[in-house]
Amino acid sequence: MRFLPLALSLAVFAAPAFPQAAATANSGYKTHEGRERVAQSLNAGDRESKQRPKELIEVLGIKPGDTVVDLGTGVGYMLPYLSEAVGPKGKVLAEDIFDDFLTQAKQNAAKHSLTNVVFIKGTDRDPRLPANSADLVMALDSYHHFDYPAKMLAVIARSLHPGGRLAIIDFYKAGFRDPAHIRLDQDGVIREVEANGFELVHKQDHQPKVQYIAIFRKK
Ligand SMILES: C[S@@+](CC[C@H](N)C(=O)[O-])C[C@H]1O[C@@H](n2cnc3c(N)ncnc32)[C@H](O)[C@@H]1O
Repeated sequence: MRFLPLALSLAVFAAPAFPQAAATANSGYKTHEGRERVAQSLNAGDRESKQRPKELIEVLGIKPGDTVVDLGTGVGYMLPYLSEAVGPKGKVLAEDIFDDFLTQAKQNAAKHSLTNVVFIKGTDRDPRLPANSADLVMALDSYHHFDYPAKMLAVIARSLHPGGRLAIIDFYKAGFRDPAHIRLDQDGVIREVEANGFELVHKQDHQPKVQYIAIFRKK
């Protein structure tokens, strides 16, 4: 019995200090080969018809001159659309946590001759965004990959101008091939984001029953 307290404290210290919330979603991202498979799906030929990027840009209400963050840019699929929407006086900050995705995103920006995109290498807890700089942070299919959502939301809030917005475009659990991949459904995401310094200002379906848009304003 004397050893029980010691055994318990060892178990506590052996447990990870911060459990990784999105372990299921991130299981396919651990190797270069896994990320290459993801990259192919992000560049798939039918993505345009499903994702409808131009409609997405309209719903987000991006204006010329805005600074917009593409948080978890992946292969930079949205960069040409975001770059055009903010125009020559605006800026797109394209962030990801993996070098191989960022390399492909840079190649995509070069292919489209985009001159108003800046690339940022973040970490799984800190997107390293400049403070008080963005009008909109967009997380397209990336929020459900955040292992440390509260830490991410704190930096996102800091990066926004007063009144700046965060747009989360993500999948409904039931609309995704593997529901366990999506950590929280729309109502859970809204609760989590509102508990971390934001208020919901708009929500709508983007792909009915598959993908939704939730837009928040920094409080
Ligand atoms: C499904 S992909 C979506 C990529 C891109 N937004 C798109 O729609 O084409 C998810 C992306 O989120 C990135 N990601 C995962 N955890 C992240 C984090 N904590 N911060 C920023 N990006 C993250 C991944 O590296 C990956 O590029």
